[in-house]
Amino acid sequence: MSAQSPRRGQWGSQIGFILAAAGSAVGLGNIWRFPYMAGQNGGGAFVLVYLVCVLVIALPVMFLEISLGRATHRNPVGAIKAVAPRSLWRLLGYLALLTGLGILSYYSVIAGKVLTYCALYVRKLVLGEGIVYSGATVEVVIYFALFLILTVLVVSGGVQRGIERWTKILMPLLVVIMGAIIVRSLLLPGAMAGVKWFVTPDFSKITPRVILNAMSQGFFSLSLGMGAMLTYGSYLSRKDSIVTCGTSVVLFDTVIAILAGFMIFPAVFALGGDPAAGSTLIFQVLPKVFGGMEGGAVVGIVFFFLLCVAALTSTVSLLEVVTAYFVDERRWSRRRSVWTIGAAAFIVGLPSAFDLAGITPWTSITILGKHGFLEAMDFLWGNLSLAIGSLLLCVFAIAVWGLKNAASEIEIGSPGFVRFRAVWIFFIRWICPALIGVILVSKLVS
Ligand code: PHE
Repeated sequence: MSAQSPRRGQWGSQIGFILAAAGSAVGLGNIWRFPYMAGQNGGGAFVLVYLVCVLVIALPVMFLEISLGRATHRNPVGAIKAVAPRSLWRLLGYLALLTGLGILSYYSVIAGKVLTYCALYVRKLVLGEGIVYSGATVEVVIYFALFLILTVLVVSGGVQRGIERWTKILMPLLVVIMGAIIVRSLLLPGAMAGVKWFVTPDFSKITPRVILNAMSQGFFSLSLGMGAMLTYGSYLSRKDSIVTCGTSVVLFDTVIAILAGFMIFPAVFALGGDPAAGSTLIFQVLPKVFGGMEGGAVVGIVFFFLLCVAALTSTVSLLEVVTAYFVDERRWSRRRSVWTIGAAAFIVGLPSAFDLAGITPWTSITILGKHGFLEAMDFLWGNLSLAIGSLLLCVFAIAVWGLKNAASEIEIGSPGFVRFRAVWIFFIRWICPALIGVILVSKLVS
């Protein structure tokens, strides 16, 4: 089961995996989606529920996903087939692929918008033009396509050459520039109201909807529930520690999300914005912050550029999951796989791009109670699908793979895990599936 075919790559080192997995985790989920969700779901209350969900649900699931990947050395469908040949469980693998494509489609539209802002700040610096986001249809579609092409090019380069090197230098830089923006944001008059709103939980705001959104945000931000960590784990060697890797990724990702909150909300309150503005929140707030800043254009360029890179290391992982399936199971060449899936993501993403460009009926469509095509896609794939995928993964591990097998896989390379083994098994057997199930059902019936 674990024989590694020679055609598969492997990370150069454990740090290679951590960088790539952190690259997958850190992205628009932290900087665009986390503030937008926190803003719509009660601020401090959301943050608290989010942190609890990450610790109690996402961290155990993270170990599980990586271990299934490393144990089988396969993509999501292949991993399930390796454990349970010819069973219907492989549908869970297909759900993962579909979710990957679904997220990739609208995520690249938002990433295209980030790229547009990057270009706008370059023009401001070079030509002295003002920052006006036109949102014209051609522009939105072109930048969306451009971003997808970038993703395709990186993934076609293969696991190590493509993914590992991007993260090494640019991630730490992102943290530095965020630090600078936070300082600026906190110095604005009236900023403290935003800080207070972000850190003080108002318990009356905690509803089933808030809890579902917080839990799903945890899966989204940590790239869980659709096989990204599984696929990256499949390139990990038995010498490496799943515990160290998983924990580092969770820590790093959570810190970045919280930093994003401190970057956005003080400014929202100081400059009189609406925290519940939705998916356009960061694009409303940040240009105002940069506008009032000495050297704001340079900060704008650097920030939006780094955000592009962070988004790129995430879309790369989304595309890599689906690619690994076609390469491993269908024997397609890497090139053919990436271009075909990229084209599919473009077609599926077009309505989201039209929504962003303000074209009816895409802006006025209501699906699953969500207004506008893009937010509906985000709810369907980014919220529901990831939660369902994570739940089914737990059930699969309990009923088919065996939690003892999973725990033993984690133990290889992490001898210290012995002490937590029983606790981890208890969480995956009872706590995680029960909580995910109850949260999903209580939201859907409420
Ligand atoms: N975690 C990524 C982010 O925060 C998005 C993502 C979700 C990537 C699911 C892969 C899988 O931006």
